[in-house]
Amino acid sequence: MAHTIRWGILGTGGIATAFATDLLANGLILSAVGSRSAGGAERFAAEFGNPTAHSSYEELVADPDVDAIYVATPHPMHVANTLLALRAGKHVLVEKPFTLNALEAQLIADEAERSKLVVLEAMWTRFLPHMVRIREIIATGTLGEVHTVLADHDQKLPSDPSHRLNDPALGGGALLDLGIYPVSFAVDVLGLPTRILASATKTSTGVDRQTAIIFEHGETGRSVLHCALDTLGPNAATVIGTDARIEIDDTWYKPTTFRVIDAEGTVIESFDHPVVSRGMQYQAAELERLVNAGLRESELLPVSESVAIMGVLDEVRRQIGLVYPGE
Ligand SMILES: NC(=O)c1ccc[n+]([C@@H]2O[C@H](COP(=O)([O-])OP(=O)(O)OC[C@H]3O[C@@H](n4cnc5c(N)ncnc54)[C@H](OP(=O)(O)O)[C@@H]3O)[C@@H](O)[C@H]2O)c1
Repeated sequence: MAHTIRWGILGTGGIATAFATDLLANGLILSAVGSRSAGGAERFAAEFGNPTAHSSYEELVADPDVDAIYVATPHPMHVANTLLALRAGKHVLVEKPFTLNALEAQLIADEAERSKLVVLEAMWTRFLPHMVRIREIIATGTLGEVHTVLADHDQKLPSDPSHRLNDPALGGGALLDLGIYPVSFAVDVLGLPTRILASATKTSTGVDRQTAIIFEHGETGRSVLHCALDTLGPNAATVIGTDARIEIDDTWYKPTTFRVIDAEGTVIESFDHPVVSRGMQYQAAELERLVNAGLRESELLPVSESVAIMGVLDEVRRQIGLVYPGE
């Protein structure tokens, strides 16, 4: 596919660096970068082929040579940064979690509707080749009736209390950073939960260190999900149906391999598809496809589903007693 959308990256931290790397490795167009500081923007631009360096987010979104903005700031800033870009007439790919809570998510959905622009949550896993194939396998009925999703996202991350992940003021905690992956996956496979049960332990800074979640999806569906920010887990996922199951290998939310195993234990499909770079280009390509086709919603992740997922995370947080400053 020929790429015509000119990207602007808002924020210059860890994931912005990964995204820029993937854009350039796959022939997408990086037109500009915006940072809170001139030095930050210039350093980033020098590393990634000298796109225009803007010393404020306001300047970035006003750049006429930018069509779409990738919001790569900490979660509490997503709503303001995304509204800023939409109001400047830019399409937006906004990092996960979509926002801090469902109220903020709805503000974005409303603004995107009003401005007739594309907004897409950068839940990059949804757009990866193995997930596209898994969705096809489930849709064609190979698994029979799908009853169960098991998934964890457990990483050993920095314990520094001032790190974004541990700081309540920056939306810290395992759930919104890591737990959103199994939550979004369970919703993708089995739909929104009809009942939610959650239990967590906390860090000394008061955010969730580990959270265990059970979803009921109507009468037959159940999801068992886990996230943690200070222990490295298997990071595998399994989807179990009456006729077969899918075992997705470590690391299930990144480009990876999987097997479909029937009820007798025989492997009936093995998936192994090489992916160039980290794989963040697929979500950018999906936004580009929508814009070029004059579409506003991705079937893989509609805005309404991103809003609903924030509502699910709100309920998990209510049960584990996790409230962010200003909420
Ligand atoms: N998809 C994935 O695999 C993945 C992986 C990691 C993180 N993420 C998501 O990406 C977002 C950013 O995470 P990150 O790890 O890239 O964070 P990070 O390394 O801390 O970078 C965040 C950037 O946001 C900007 N920023 C604006 N206001 C800020 C504030 N008050 N404090 C700190 N930084 C601020 C800064 O850029 P300037 O100074 O240039 O303005 C900073 O470099 C999070 O929402 C996270 O969930 C996604």
